[in-house]
Amino acid sequence: MDINKENWLIKEEGFDKSRIEDNGNRFLLGNGYMGIRGTLSEYGKEQLVAVNLAGIYDKVGDSWREPLNAPNFLYSKPEFNNTELSVLSINPKDHKVILDFYEGILYRESVFCVDGVNVRVRSERFPDMDNVHLIWEKCVIDADSAGRLTLNAGIDYDIWDINGPHFVRFEKEIGHDGSVSIKGFTQKDTEFVHVKEALVSVSLLNRPLAVKDDEKEKLLLHHGIFDIKAGETVSFYRVASVYTSKDTDAEPAISGEAISPEIYMEKKEAHKKWWALKWDNSAVKIEGDEEAERAVNYSLYHLHSIAPRHRDSMSIPARGLSGQTYKGAVFWDTEMFILDFFLYTEPRVARTLIKYRIDTLKGALDKAKSYGYKGAFYAWESQEGGFDACSDYNVTDVFTKRPMRTFFKDKQVHISSAIVFGLKKYFDVTGDMSLLSEGAFETVMECAIFYSELLVKKVYGDCYEIRDVIGPDEYHERVNNNFYTNRMAKMVFTEALRLIDKLDTIEDARKEEIIKKYNVKALKEIFEDASRKLYIPAPGESGVIPQFDGYFDLEDVSVDTVRGRLLDPKEYWGGAYGVASHTQVIKQADVVTCLSLFKDEYSSEVLNKNYDYYEKRTEHGSSLSACMYSLLACYCDRPDEAYPFFMKSASADIKGGGKQWAGLVYIGGSHPASEGGAYMNVLHGFAGINVKDGKLVASPKLPKNIKKLEFRIIFKGIRYLVTVEKEKAEFKPC
Ligand code: BGC
Repeated sequence: MDINKENWLIKEEGFDKSRIEDNGNRFLLGNGYMGIRGTLSEYGKEQLVAVNLAGIYDKVGDSWREPLNAPNFLYSKPEFNNTELSVLSINPKDHKVILDFYEGILYRESVFCVDGVNVRVRSERFPDMDNVHLIWEKCVIDADSAGRLTLNAGIDYDIWDINGPHFVRFEKEIGHDGSVSIKGFTQKDTEFVHVKEALVSVSLLNRPLAVKDDEKEKLLLHHGIFDIKAGETVSFYRVASVYTSKDTDAEPAISGEAISPEIYMEKKEAHKKWWALKWDNSAVKIEGDEEAERAVNYSLYHLHSIAPRHRDSMSIPARGLSGQTYKGAVFWDTEMFILDFFLYTEPRVARTLIKYRIDTLKGALDKAKSYGYKGAFYAWESQEGGFDACSDYNVTDVFTKRPMRTFFKDKQVHISSAIVFGLKKYFDVTGDMSLLSEGAFETVMECAIFYSELLVKKVYGDCYEIRDVIGPDEYHERVNNNFYTNRMAKMVFTEALRLIDKLDTIEDARKEEIIKKYNVKALKEIFEDASRKLYIPAPGESGVIPQFDGYFDLEDVSVDTVRGRLLDPKEYWGGAYGVASHTQVIKQADVVTCLSLFKDEYSSEVLNKNYDYYEKRTEHGSSLSACMYSLLACYCDRPDEAYPFFMKSASADIKGGGKQWAGLVYIGGSHPASEGGAYMNVLHGFAGINVKDGKLVASPKLPKNIKKLEFRIIFKGIRYLVTVEKEKAEFKPC
């Protein structure tokens, strides 16, 4: 597949202070183990520098538990004739930052004018994709007149945290081998993050650097003075490692010997090869629409960068590895929006994501128990071990400044169905049933048991209801018979029944254990009954399905009217008294999400009517919303209407500009669900590829500006080159 590489560069020319926070997300680098915000090396915590670590959390006082940021090992602030070369203190004469997302490398070039001398700083950096503890950097400085250059580069351990500081104690080490290291300990004292950095300078003088420990500024720096002539360059190369108490592999040994210009070049070449291989499997070529091609592949760049390839059981948080927003927690975003990309391009990662849920079943069982239920009630905001990080008071009332009771944690019961749906997709797309004997069977049974516990039967009437829930639209809390929740619960029952029928395929010893643990025959009867009698809201005379009982009785006003009623722009729209709560205005796709998942059960007329009805009433206040509308628009045979929703989803991070702050709390970051949703739009929507009766089917719906689509997918272990043109899709094994 030929790639127009120019289209794979994100460039920022000129320095604009107001873009610092957004750029931290746009220029993000990552390798699944760590996310390195796209900040400049002279930045500090005020500019939201963060090396965000996957899967390690800490809690300070009464604040939320959040993931840890490591000390910043990419810090450097050189000086020329005693003037700092920093965009924060001098407006640069020239400045550009380029993310080459085909190669996964971040480049920076700035020219500073110091007393009439032009001093140029060029750098490049990339995280190691194989040894995920490492990151590599090269920096070259030159000037057009002679002068004194001072190098200051090392570790900044004044760390940006939302609810920190998390490290209560630091241990520092200055090696005799060109390395410096900082170990930060949390209050538990057994939990730590260890950052070690080695730097070599390569210049005409080639002198080793001294080390300066500035306790006040919390900087541990290599330091050197070079009197340079016009045109001479001073370069330094560095490698840094991050290692935490959660890691089980060996900590990499870092010393001055670990880095040299030759080693750096070797690593850079290996890095480019790694990405070329990834793109060979996953790039999406869109003929006729370069902007769409760029946006969707940039989204995939992000997903590749946060995939936990270093583990076999780990998931992806809602804001990826772009910071501590959303507590670094895993939501339904993973199974419903992110998973499909990995299922079709890198099933091993999909397995890792699912395995995280299987391995956190205990957390889900405990959560259900705490509410008096049997079965598995998964965490709405899942952290280590399936711990639910969601607080009872997730929103602050802007008027009273008091915490508002929200019920996301207690009532978004649809989370457990997302896990079963993820597993079902895994089985359908990969054909790999091995997870069944590794806990998937129990996971599905426990989720089905949980839903059967929720069923309520009226004395009159022969159906079951699910009451007092919150559906995907979070603005309406504690509703009865949410269409999405009920239909997904039914799916859980049918999947449980399907797996019970597959019990014989599980190896004997495990099968014995399962039979001992569950009364499979009794469960089968319960699930059959539940799935047959669970009430699924149906389209009324108008063809529209009520989102929940009584939905149509709510005030029917436009999104703008509701927005116009806000007394404060930061007011929460939902909850007990929110401006949207008593209206039909919803936060995000709800009925529409459900219809796009179960489209084959409804006529085209019903799909169209619901799309039209709900679109007008949706605020799209969540980045998860647009892609679901795009999907349904394709299934309604309206691809041109799907297109702007798809672009919105694909551009969430390339454009930036989303909400960054809620009061004093940073809520910005990248949007993996939106990125994954954009991929789903290409695959399931425009190319129309889905699995039906165990086979791949395609019914393409290309919008008018997309002439041709080309990409590779893996289905049941076979890789295909998919070409979509007009109304035709072709699959060639490759
Ligand atoms: C959305 C949820 C989503 C969460 C994390 C919320 O704003 O309403 O559906 O799971 O963000 O992305």
